Amino acid sequence: MKRTVIKSTGRYVPPRVVTNHDLTQWMDTSDEWIRQRTGIEQRHWIPEEGGVGSSDLALEATKIALERTGWTAKDIDLIIFATLSPDIFFPGPGCLLQHKLGLNSTPALDIRQQCTGFLYGLATADAYIRSGLANKILLACAEVHSTGIDISTRGRDVAVLFGDGAGVVCLEGIETDKDVGILASALHANGEFAESLMIEVGASRLNPRISEELIKEGRHWPVMDGKTIFKEAVRSLPNVSQEVLQKSGLSLEDIDLFIPHQANLRINQFFQQSMKLPEEKVFHNIQRYGNTTAASIPIALDEALEMNIIGDGSAVIFLGLGAGLTWAAVLARLVG
Ligand code: ACO
Repeated sequence: MKRTVIKSTGRYVPPRVVTNHDLTQWMDTSDEWIRQRTGIEQRHWIPEEGGVGSSDLALEATKIALERTGWTAKDIDLIIFATLSPDIFFPGPGCLLQHKLGLNSTPALDIRQQCTGFLYGLATADAYIRSGLANKILLACAEVHSTGIDISTRGRDVAVLFGDGAGVVCLEGIETDKDVGILASALHANGEFAESLMIEVGASRLNPRISEELIKEGRHWPVMDGKTIFKEAVRSLPNVSQEVLQKSGLSLEDIDLFIPHQANLRINQFFQQSMKLPEEKVFHNIQRYGNTTAASIPIALDEALEMNIIGDGSAVIFLGLGAGLTWAAVLARLVG
């Protein structure tokens, strides 16, 4: 049977560290408020002068993952790029990353699933591999949020949450009769909540797409109904975990580690308590990175592997909920 296995991982965050205390120079907030409500202590941002896009961060993470796999860029059959913060409006960063890797005909596919980008990306890659359309896939997830948030007091509810970074995985199809690789996935979306977390300008539904008036109204900044998203996350994450357990035939006790999207430490603690899991079975690193959206789960996976919390044979559930709304989970058994 054809199975999709995670061959290697890589992560990259820009070196500039922005602490909660640093944020107080631009907005009315405090280290205490941010830590208590979100768990975040610091995040990494690109240099203030800009000039670094999501594909640049992804390139650095990709170099690491390729080296660990022993692949060259030419070995890749397909690039899947997940982000909500593309370098430019279009074309998508998959093409930009492909060019930066020195390639000129490898297909590149962008997905826009925000915090579940890695999960939708894994499920998509798995479908490509099992159908025989591709066998070696680079799934790159990267975000540059720092240039797209309102760092004045008006935007503080959103601005304190987000960090820049990239996490990638190399995926390969192998023939095996063992239960390894991606064993189950469950993807969901509910567009009813699309405007609970969005950036509107420059939307095609606006004519003109951008104007001084729209900018004055602040409609080029993200808006978020944090309470609705929090509530939906706490409700949906246990359900979607049970769904992949059921699909795979594994039980809760078989899972070595849950790696949730890092949106808020409190969401993940609610999840852990409602699933009656011991603390050490749920991985957190939001304290150091903030919410890096599509990149947060692969960055966490890369760290968990580096820390030897998981390794060959570990059963892991990746899960998350974010803008869309979209929510999803993928259950995988690691190899090698
Ligand atoms: N610093 C200080 N005070 C603040 C800040 C801040 N950064 N932000 C908001 N406040 C104030 C508010 O103005 C409000 O003041 P008031 O009571 O005087 O009106 C007070 O703090 C409480 O604000 P709430 O919005 O009620 O705070 P809440 O406890 O809901 O926490 C938070 C807000 C952290 C954003 C939370 O709702 C949350 O994490 N929601 C989920 C976010 C999420 O998961 N997003 C999806 C993933 S991202 C993606 O998909 C791209």
